[in-house]
Amino acid sequence: MLSVAILAAGKGTRMESSLPKVLHKISGKSLLQRVIDSCVELNPDQIFVITGHKSQEVKESITDKEKIQFVIQDPQLGTGHAIQVLCKKVKKNEGTLLVLNGDVPLIKPETLNKLLNLHDAKNADVSLITNKKKNPYGYGRVFLKGDFIEKIVEEKDCNDLERENPLINAGVYCFNWGHLSEIINNLQSNNNQKEIYLTDTISLLKNSLSLEIEDNGELQGINNRIQLSECEESIQNSIKEKHMLNGVTFINKASCSISEEAEIGKDVIIEANTHIRGNTKINSHCIIGPNTFIENSNVGLHCEISNSTVYDSQIIDHIKIGPYSHIRPNSKISSFSKIGNFVEIKNSQLEEESKVNHLSYIGDSIIGRSTNIGAGTITANFDGQKKHQTKIGKNSSIGANTVFVAPINLGESVTTGAGSVITKDSKDNSLAISRTKQVNIENWERKKS
Ligand code: UD1
Ligand code: CA
Repeated sequence: MLSVAILAAGKGTRMESSLPKVLHKISGKSLLQRVIDSCVELNPDQIFVITGHKSQEVKESITDKEKIQFVIQDPQLGTGHAIQVLCKKVKKNEGTLLVLNGDVPLIKPETLNKLLNLHDAKNADVSLITNKKKNPYGYGRVFLKGDFIEKIVEEKDCNDLERENPLINAGVYCFNWGHLSEIINNLQSNNNQKEIYLTDTISLLKNSLSLEIEDNGELQGINNRIQLSECEESIQNSIKEKHMLNGVTFINKASCSISEEAEIGKDVIIEANTHIRGNTKINSHCIIGPNTFIENSNVGLHCEISNSTVYDSQIIDHIKIGPYSHIRPNSKISSFSKIGNFVEIKNSQLEEESKVNHLSYIGDSIIGRSTNIGAGTITANFDGQKKHQTKIGKNSSIGANTVFVAPINLGESVTTGAGSVITKDSKDNSLAISRTKQVNIENWERKKS
């Protein structure tokens, strides 16, 4: 029987934040959610999340709450106290208890499995992950005696000699829960932080093992925003390396960010300062950026998007977008279309080969195939209370500066005169024009004052 306890009750004082530490995000996902996702992979029988500081906020942030049992630790008297509270709350303290710090977000399921295997094979009372760090500052130092761990001394309790020990406690422990529960209430708080340390259980248990591993960044604990940004960088580097090995070019890697869920096809070029967020798929042979933000969208083959923003939309194949276009949610731009300078599209469907090249707002619209929308065209889709639809049929030619007062429905091959305010529907093959005729007054002179 495998149980997991994730420690997430602390305030995170060193973050200097009103947000609980474990809710800070790296690459779009909170620290706590990352730890949960890692341990869910192990398929444990039960998962406990220990909350305390702003517990409701922490609880609400979790997706898949049904897999989790929340235990409240109030007040928060230290990591050992958190486990005391858990042991008291849960009737059967049996099987294996994996304890994870909620602020060690990059821990991998494979590493956890290694620890579990060692723990089982050696029938240990406690096994924990250690690592030799160049700069061990801030971590608990692990002291070995023969094959076993003798004790862990926290940074703040170390003497000068102890502080030189580079072997650190990663905050990932596997306990024989039965044996742990026999000694958990013997923990004291006579240390420099006046806290009940979980790490003091080591000296109280007999068979304590260290699993020393190489750290490729996964053991980084987050106590302040410098470490938060180091973790972000480390996760971003591994995401981008994965894509580069799969055939994606980054022109200026450091200035770009890519979500973990993003999929990117071969021979895609990501230009500087481009951010691909959420559940986005970029298909092969696209050039994305510079200065582009794409979230939860699908971009087809051979598209070029520069200096633009795209949210929750479908961009099909061979499309050029930008510079300075804003594609807002629920839009579909069909193949061989072009969206140009300073154009905003919202909740609209553009059929193949349509063009909206300059300075337009197209909202709640359906634009037919091969239709050209002249510069400055606006759909007036809001009457002050409701949004209305504009429909323009295929092969139409919309004059510059046309205003469509929606709801409006134009047939196919319709032309509108430049500067027209269109308030009435029009049939196929018609010209819709609404503007006063030009008057030329000859030999006109300005009044002299
Ligand atoms: C802890 C370890 C240290 C280790 C380091 C690894 C202890 C005493 N020290 O130190 O040996 O090297 O992690 O990153 O455990 N928490 C609670 N309840 C509390 C206090 C803390 O749930 O009463 C939670 C925090 O929300 C956090 C985690 O426990 O997620 C660790 O607490 P933190 O104060 O960050 O411990 P460290 O000083 O980093
Ligand atoms: Ca910590």
